[in-house]
Amino acid sequence: MTAKPTIIDCDPGTDDAIALFLALSSPELDVRLVTVAGGNVGLDRTTANARAVVGLTGRAVPIVAGANRSLLADFRAETAVHGDDGIGGVVLPEGPPLAPGIAADAIREELRRAAPGSVTVIGLGPVTNLALAFATEPALLDRVAEIVLMSGAWTEGNITPAAEFNAWNDPEALAMLLNLGARVAIATLDLTAQAFVTPALIEAMARREGGACWRAALAIFRALPTSKRFGHRGFPLHDPCAIAWAIDPGLFGAKSAHCAMDLASGPSRGRTVIDRWERLKLPANVTLMETLDAGRFFAMLEDRVASLP
Ligand code: BDR
Ligand code: CA
Repeated sequence: MTAKPTIIDCDPGTDDAIALFLALSSPELDVRLVTVAGGNVGLDRTTANARAVVGLTGRAVPIVAGANRSLLADFRAETAVHGDDGIGGVVLPEGPPLAPGIAADAIREELRRAAPGSVTVIGLGPVTNLALAFATEPALLDRVAEIVLMSGAWTEGNITPAAEFNAWNDPEALAMLLNLGARVAIATLDLTAQAFVTPALIEAMARREGGACWRAALAIFRALPTSKRFGHRGFPLHDPCAIAWAIDPGLFGAKSAHCAMDLASGPSRGRTVIDRWERLKLPANVTLMETLDAGRFFAMLEDRVASLP
């Protein structure tokens, strides 16, 4: 098996942290660069969290800071879910220092070094860094095998009735990525709802022995609040779904669809209008993950993260 050269752009973020653990424990992915934006909390915290999480795995992957605002406005944080520190109050050892440079430059440099059609680019937060990278050098899309995003919803949102948090935090950047002509696979809220974590599941996972990364992952799971949207029965685990797609798309049911961004300034801003039934007869610009084999997903997550140091 040849590992896929991979770039991960993220805003850790409790579920981003679990996603990084999954990616860095998976032999299918050769994670070459982690770039960070603000989003769930400010950039000072998201970078500190990315450094701590990557540091805990012992992997020497460069981490480069990027945008602390969207293309047109400030990010809005989500401390109610992720805590003031962005990682649910879970204390991790200080990680390695940031690598020098700016995320969009680092993404372009990594792509320039890569073979055509080889790199998997994963976005787990607002896609500001990715949009800046590709807007300034669109020819580098030829190095990309696939862009995989946790973003959007085909039904209702989680930050507004219409919009999902990542899409809403930089809708212009997401519109730019969707219009590049690249292959973009998206894990929406409707998909991530199937990666549902209950207190019973956490207790079952806690029976597994593991190293410091596994203990940190369990502490993060325990720190996450249950979701009102789901009657407080548990919470959806969003970002690891995008990583799981990059590892094994066979865990998912998926189809091609057209996705348009609502960029209006009113209550529908940030909505991803996803044409699941080809009503508009527009060319598909996304691969839409629709169903997830949750049993295999959680078994993989547990096996892999528990194998980390
Ligand atoms: C997305 O928003 C963030 O709060 C999570 O990290 C995830 O990327 C879910 O809407
Ligand atoms: Ca995220």
